[in-house]
Amino acid sequence: MPTPLDPAVPFDSRVESRVSLRALNSFGLPAVAEHLVRVRDETDVRRIVDHPRWGRAPKLVLGGGSNVVFTRDVPGLLIKVEVPGLRMLREDADAWILEAGAGESWHTLVAWSIEQGIPGLENLALIPGTVGAAPVQNIGAYGVELQDRFESLDVVDLVTGRTVTLDGVACAFGYRDSVFKRHLQGKAVIVRVRLRCPKPWRPELGYLDLERKRTETGIAHPDARTVFDWVCAIRRAKLPDPAVIGNAGSFFKNPVVTPEQCRDIIGRDPEVVHYPMPDGSMKLAAGWLIDACGWKGKSIGGAGVYEKQALVLVNRGSATGGEVVTLAKAIQESVYGRFGIRLEPEPVVV
Ligand code: EPU
Repeated sequence: MPTPLDPAVPFDSRVESRVSLRALNSFGLPAVAEHLVRVRDETDVRRIVDHPRWGRAPKLVLGGGSNVVFTRDVPGLLIKVEVPGLRMLREDADAWILEAGAGESWHTLVAWSIEQGIPGLENLALIPGTVGAAPVQNIGAYGVELQDRFESLDVVDLVTGRTVTLDGVACAFGYRDSVFKRHLQGKAVIVRVRLRCPKPWRPELGYLDLERKRTETGIAHPDARTVFDWVCAIRRAKLPDPAVIGNAGSFFKNPVVTPEQCRDIIGRDPEVVHYPMPDGSMKLAAGWLIDACGWKGKSIGGAGVYEKQALVLVNRGSATGGEVVTLAKAIQESVYGRFGIRLEPEPVVV
């Protein structure tokens, strides 16, 4: 019996119609894709580009659906990236280079690398989503960002069908930002990502929560596996598991302000959590700002603010994308009203 992914099956018969997206977005929001196709490699993407109908159709690329808010049904063709594969590409004196298919779960890659005895990704454990989505928003946690471990990626151009390899400079990484959120948005499909885990390994423990674990456990020199376990424990205690409560991680970016703005806010709210940035600017904890406006635990319709971390919006069971957006706007307005700061959402609103 040929499966839908068998290359012998004509491409058109692999295109599904009227597909519910509820299970395909970590918020669990209701939406329907007019058409959906699952791609396993660059050849599949090229077949879409060259196809008389799908080549011209509007397209949306979806990875693990962990950074998207669906407010409507999706017209045209939704491309669900399911490129498999995890391997160590090479090891040299300076680093281990890993390669992963864009459809693999990010956490599976991190856990696999630790199992292989390759340290470097442990601070990025348990971040929801796929490998292919990781560079799109330059995921980061506990002092490490994807760009710090990035080697290169392969991307298929949705106009020409050509596969191109991009390095970190071409990806234009910023804080939760990259070229894929800007001029390559909707124009390219990431199929494979290569990561560089540098030697010698040193644990990255600068973040307050990890420093606390070090003190609590008395382990002054943890190995990568221990840091991995600490990060998993910290995240499980503070962030909701999308399999249990729908969410998309941090809903807003931490805003960056000038030192003058920061001083002004500290003058009025001495408690405000702030971190100096290398360029002299100040990053404020958006979770603290939202919390200070009294939003923790509040809801609008089925959309709510998580009780343990105000930066995370959750689906209390029956939320629509519209309710999530209404809640986000109300939060933005109250933070602007009190602090004069405009919070910028992290997920993509469709
Ligand atoms: N805080 C509050 N009240 C809250 C939430 C936070 O007072 O309701 C305070 C905390 O006490 C802490 C500060 O705000 O002093 C910062 O909070 P936390 O350490 O939890 O980190 P964050 O700024 O909320 C960022 C990333 C997370 C990442 C963590 C750990 C962003 C937008 N978020 O969160 O990334 O896991 O640091 O490094 O940069 C994500 O992007 O989806 C994500 C989860």
